[in-house]
Amino acid sequence: MFHINDNFQKLPGSYLFAEIARRVKEYQQAHPDADIIRLGIGDVTKPLVPAVIDAMHKAVEEMGHEETFRGYGPDFGYDFLVNAIREGDYASRGINLAYDEVFVSDGAKCDVGNIQELFSDDAVIAVTDPVYPVYVDSNAMAGRAGDYVNDKWDRLVYLPCNAENGFVPPLPDRPVDVIYLCYPNNPSGTVLTKEQLKPFVDWAKENGALIIYDAAYRAFITTPDIPLSIYEVEGAREVAIECCSFSKTAGFTGTRCAYMVIPHEVCGLDAAGNRVSMNALWKRRMATKFNGVCYPVQRAAAAVYTPEGQRQIKEVIAAYLENARMIRESLTAQGFTVFGGVDAPYIWLKVPGGMTSWEFFDLLLDKCRIVGTPGSGFGPSGEGYFRLTAFNTLEKTRQAMARIGNLKL
Ligand code: MLT
Repeated sequence: MFHINDNFQKLPGSYLFAEIARRVKEYQQAHPDADIIRLGIGDVTKPLVPAVIDAMHKAVEEMGHEETFRGYGPDFGYDFLVNAIREGDYASRGINLAYDEVFVSDGAKCDVGNIQELFSDDAVIAVTDPVYPVYVDSNAMAGRAGDYVNDKWDRLVYLPCNAENGFVPPLPDRPVDVIYLCYPNNPSGTVLTKEQLKPFVDWAKENGALIIYDAAYRAFITTPDIPLSIYEVEGAREVAIECCSFSKTAGFTGTRCAYMVIPHEVCGLDAAGNRVSMNALWKRRMATKFNGVCYPVQRAAAAVYTPEGQRQIKEVIAAYLENARMIRESLTAQGFTVFGGVDAPYIWLKVPGGMTSWEFFDLLLDKCRIVGTPGSGFGPSGEGYFRLTAFNTLEKTRQAMARIGNLKL
């Protein structure tokens, strides 16, 4: 008999959002009339904006004519999208990226899950805690996380973020090879200033570490001077890879398009001690394992950067941020302690009454018919916290707040 990758057996239960979906389905089957409000997984509810739809229609039409039909696209993205990204997300903020430093993909989840293929088998990984589970699980599958003991991976370096430290992660207290950072943060909805991010860049430079910076929620930043990209921090080009996505920026969770930036300066060491470009390794990996994002989707993504596209997506984001404001204010008025939700679509609240995160999940589902995400699903420091998303409709969000108010906790 052949052997499997035993690391998969070390993973606890199922993927967080699959487990929540399972529990909600079970509840819905037992209570078929329950009108459940979903504030759990960060999935958008508003349709794609007209500029995006028009571009996609046009591109679909092109695919039906011999003269304009396209087969395999470039492995790293069409010129029109790569250049729109370079201009719209970077040059406009004073950051110059070379054409071949941008890699278009089908999702930031895939990118942050796949990038670990480039690390050595024994690389030491640091994650903020709580953390988007993909960084942890993808490294656990490769054997870098060690064993899962008492709700923790014994080979991971956790950087706890909590109310006590204002959700600003401490620097690693031992050598690590890779640090994953996500800002605006999933799950806590908090942000870092340039001054708070700079020590990570400096630490990575001094210690020869790599930063994987997940900026999937950058479009939600409204506070002035909060960096939208890690490359706004001096020196970051030498140590950081950045992932961004159209999922939350423009409602592409089901449409699938994202990109990763790998500056030429980012290098790791091979076994013989030679410096090797991560950009070159990723090119090799993508050309081998990926055939690009479909043409109509790339046209749709490029339309996000047109003036109409920008105006339209900003309206959508403002609506989600209005939901976030309503959740924050309503929960605060009800006596909850809440964090985040200002520059992010996530609100992170303290679970009341000494309940565990999963107990609060069950209570909200059973008594309010509301689905949220238990903080402990994001890591040990998430215990005692709970995440709600602002991605539902205004009406449902309002109803959800009224239902929680009736709980009289
Ligand atoms: C979340 O709810 O944390 C996100 O939707 C997950 C994702 O973007 O994959």
